Amino acid sequence: MKRILLLSLALVSVIIISCNQSTKTKEMVKKDVFGTHNGKEVYLLTLTNKAGNVIRLTNFGAKINWIEVPDKNGKKDNITLGYDSFEETLKGDKYFGAVVGRFANRIANGKFTLDGVVYHTPLNDGPNTLHGGPLGWHSVVWNTEVVKDSKFPSVKFTYVSPDMEEGFPGKVDASVTYTWTDNNEIVMDYTCTTDKKTIVNITNHAYFNLHGAGNGDILDHVVTLKASAFTPVDSVMIPTGEIRQVAGTPFDFNTPHPIGERINDKYDQLKLGKGYDHNYILDNKEEVDVTVYEPVSGRMLEVLTDQPGMQFYTGNFLDGTQIGHGGKVYKYRSGMCLESGHYPDSPNHADFPTTVLNAGETLKSTTIYRFSVKSN
Ligand code: BGC
Repeated sequence: MKRILLLSLALVSVIIISCNQSTKTKEMVKKDVFGTHNGKEVYLLTLTNKAGNVIRLTNFGAKINWIEVPDKNGKKDNITLGYDSFEETLKGDKYFGAVVGRFANRIANGKFTLDGVVYHTPLNDGPNTLHGGPLGWHSVVWNTEVVKDSKFPSVKFTYVSPDMEEGFPGKVDASVTYTWTDNNEIVMDYTCTTDKKTIVNITNHAYFNLHGAGNGDILDHVVTLKASAFTPVDSVMIPTGEIRQVAGTPFDFNTPHPIGERINDKYDQLKLGKGYDHNYILDNKEEVDVTVYEPVSGRMLEVLTDQPGMQFYTGNFLDGTQIGHGGKVYKYRSGMCLESGHYPDSPNHADFPTTVLNAGETLKSTTIYRFSVKSN
């Protein structure tokens, strides 16, 4: 009798403990249906940290849909470009918040060679392949797993990219885990493995506006970017191979400068990029690679990465045709991107850090977006 009693007590406590745990997970990560795409369910995941701040993710393109953080007076606003519904997300700008792969940024003429074999990828940006091709990883439904053993709200998205998808060799198993810490950091942990030699360059393409998405442009955002050099581009945005020092040019952000201060200078690369749209070669000497401070709200974004490059893009192609969250219009230069990763067109530049991933190797990389406020 006593044994039965003890056993039932143990059973009851196991049930209570597991119920508590699932309530805890539920509070931190809420999973709602957002839509369906190609027969697969698309979710909107709401992650709330202990500071009470919210980010939203979707497994369609493993995108960041919403980042709601306070300004210096405690007023919260969403500071990333995105859409309220799945239908708008599907029809709208492809890259808002997306994980971009298998090869982020451009591949010249959609062509590269591995072990003497020439591979062709689809041309979706003039003569080049951009962001893994039109059906790259930004456009697929990833599998969703709410990470249970995490101290912070955390979601892992996984995707199996088949051999020769968008022309790239090898079946790649990709994952991105987003963790929203209590310190208002989005930690993005990426992994990739392949069954055959391939190339990988993975990034996140979130657009930020620290005034709040849709509230004016980003020209007053003050940027500090720890990079001594960048890779100049040609007329179709492919690196020429030159490594140019930033010192004495409008590309030098080693000390803080508002984006708008020099963006219209008569400088060849600003003309070719229609503003800043360039890969910086990170010095990787300090913990924080990029700081963005917006003086009106006091909001600050810091970017930390283990990657060698950072595409600094000032929304030069935003043109007011996209209507985002809350019906807000995303005008010219109303968002900026900081895309950590490898240099554009690396497979065609032997002297750039390699983007080759061999069978049996695991690509592991981490980038962090950290949000805070500064009151002066
Ligand atoms: C590129 C831009 C491109 C944009 C598309 C950026 O990564 O550098 O040139 O227009 O992506 O959203």
